[in-house]
This record gives sequence, C-alpha cells and structure tokens, in this order.
Amino acid sequence: MVQDMSKYTEEDLEIWNYLFDNQYHNIQGKVCWEYLDCVQQLSSALNPHEIPNFNKLNALLHLKTGWSIHIVPGLIEPDEFFNHLKNRRFCSSTWLRSKDKLHYIQEPDMFHDIFGHIPLFANQDYADFAQKIGEMAHHWKHDEDKIAQIQRLYWFTIEFGVIRRKGELKSYGAGIISSIEEVDKVHNQIGEFREYDTIEILNRPFNIDTVQPTYYVIDSFSDLYESLNQVELIFSNAA
Ligand SMILES: [Fe+2]
Repeated sequence: MVQDMSKYTEEDLEIWNYLFDNQYHNIQGKVCWEYLDCVQQLSSALNPHEIPNFNKLNALLHLKTGWSIHIVPGLIEPDEFFNHLKNRRFCSSTWLRSKDKLHYIQEPDMFHDIFGHIPLFANQDYADFAQKIGEMAHHWKHDEDKIAQIQRLYWFTIEFGVIRRKGELKSYGAGIISSIEEVDKVHNQIGEFREYDTIEILNRPFNIDTVQPTYYVIDSFSDLYESLNQVELIFSNAA
C-alpha cells in the first residue's frame, strides 16, 4: 500500500493541525524528554502544518535508526505485525479521525500511529527494544501463550509505558501520548503505578476497552531493553 497524499482534504489538514498543536502543547512536562527530542529531530516531516508524508518521515527515520513506516489498512494479525517490528517496520494507518471523533476512536488512526508511536523510533534504545520484541514474537510464533505474553509486554510498554524522571512520572507509551485525557491522567497520577516487573507483566492480562487501571514504570530505555534478556531466559526455561 502507498500513501496517496492527494486524498487528504483541507478538513483533514485542519484536524491534523488541531490535534498536533493541541496535544503537543498539552504534553509538555508530561512526557519523557526523549519523545520531545525525537519530535524535534523529525520536525521537517512531522509538524502541525502538513499532513505527515511517510516517504519524508521514512527518509529521516532510516538515517537515524533504520526504521520505517509500513502502511496497513487497519488492525492486522499479531504475527504479521510482529514480523514487521522484527524487520524494523512500524505499521501505520493513513486515515485520520473525523471532526466529530477528535477525542475517541475505536481503531488506531494516523494521529495515534504517527504522532503517538513514530517519534520514539528515532531513539536507539527504544527502537532496539521494539525490534527485539518482534524478533522474540517471530521465534515463538507457534506458541500461543508466549505470544499472549509478548502482547502484554508490548501493551504495558510501547502502548502504555511510563518512565520515572527525577521522581516524576513521564509518559512514553503511544496510547497515552496520543490521548489528551490519558496523558493528564498519568500526569495527575490517577491509577495504579507499579514498578516495572517483567514476570508480573508477562502474566497480567489487559483490557483494550476500558481505561487503564495500572501502569508500569521504568527507569530508562536501556533497562527496558535489558529486561528482554530475562524474558528470553524465562521463555527458554519454559520451553
Ligand atoms: Fe498503538
């Protein structure tokens, strides 16, 4: 699939501009500095003034960490999704929510996928963590239980992860960063915040339809990457 830039309307641009401006302003002081730094690094292709052109973003990302965006029509099967991660490709939609659904969407749109997810792929430790999750999922693709555990790990980090900085909680998960309500919820410490615990996360089911009751807090992206060694050990001992 390719991104047809000619299909975006003036209204799409207005929506993108509103969402980007509003949320970029809202997340200041509430998200990790790495995210904000990555947005700056990608700003020639990721800004409020133009619908992001994936080719331009890919050229920048590729230079930094070798990642690129793979266009999907919507949600895809886990093994396909993880296979793209393994190959340093993040799946994104090209559609944008409508004006009457600015704050709630049922399926991830381009604002969630691009604004929420893409910037941190310019950070090496984060990008390596995501790639290794994909690699592990590929290795265990015939083991349903392990795939479910890897999905939990993905959920509590890449989607809803929180990092501690000088005693304060900052969001890094894309599900939080792309949601006005959720980024404030974490900032105001509403919910349960637990220390990142690999074994606990692997065994903790999540619900995609409700507000997150629990978040896991890491200290650094390099710790996060290192934690995958423990996962590998647990998986091979259980095999
Ligand atoms: Fe997501």
